[in-house]
Amino acid sequence: MTLTITPTGATLGAIVTGVELANLDDARWADIERAFLAHAVLIFPSQHLSEAAQIDFGRRFGNIEHLVADREIVPISNQRVDGTILKDDEPGLQLMRGNEGWHTDSSYMPLAAKASVLSAHVVPSAGGQTEWADMRAAYDALDEETKARIAQLSAYHSLYYSQGRIGHKGVVGSSYGFHTGEPPLRPLVKVHPVTGRKSLFIGRHAYGIPGLAPEESEKLLDRLVAFACQAPRTYCHAWRPGDVVVWDNRCVLHRARPFDYREPRVMKHTRVSGEPASELAVPNAQIAP
Ligand code: OGA
Ligand code: MN
Repeated sequence: MTLTITPTGATLGAIVTGVELANLDDARWADIERAFLAHAVLIFPSQHLSEAAQIDFGRRFGNIEHLVADREIVPISNQRVDGTILKDDEPGLQLMRGNEGWHTDSSYMPLAAKASVLSAHVVPSAGGQTEWADMRAAYDALDEETKARIAQLSAYHSLYYSQGRIGHKGVVGSSYGFHTGEPPLRPLVKVHPVTGRKSLFIGRHAYGIPGLAPEESEKLLDRLVAFACQAPRTYCHAWRPGDVVVWDNRCVLHRARPFDYREPRVMKHTRVSGEPASELAVPNAQIAP
């Protein structure tokens, strides 16, 4: 099999074929890791990974973050195991609705995510794509005045904030990610721990920039997301069952695209923890070993 890495044409993303992720040797892994760092989003069509194989692939990138209890892979789905569909006001569905806003995974946790692996199992007849936006290219494209303005700014990140903004009141301890401690504070400009490239670290969980009034902060953060998440920095993937995608949460935002929620959409997600040296939030970094 010949490994083929085809860039999407956007500033991020590549389609990778000629590799079986379930049988990855170290040489192939090295190729994939290099491509991951270069393209930030890798799309592997038609892999049909078992849950165990998806977790093993995630482990290549680092430690697995446990989103629910001790689970290393979780469904992102509007369908229960008995086949019935979640109702609008159920927490699972509200989280899926939340995923339709641009975000980076686990930025609201003390240790933000490094990577996420998502696979498609059941896809709706229309919509339900996933889209990614390149925060490296977005940072580069900012005018000098904005770069100077944000250079020393940080924002808090909270899933209570982002879900609250779409009308979902998270119940303490109700499900993954409703971190009940002090919300993490993170610089708006992140330096990638491997490539050294600067990127915008923003998204829907970010709020409350210290030193700015709440409305000013919201306005600036909304403006940055709107500017950043535009062509040629975005790539949208229309899923087919069996596809697997991995992305670099340290330098991309992503969002789910809407679909008719009366139809089932079943995805499986494995999340890889960041490194304490680079993904631990500011107040926590001071107490890190
Ligand atoms: C996620 C996520 C988007 C989607 O799994 O973290 O944001 O398209 N998913 O399901
Ligand atoms: Mn996500």
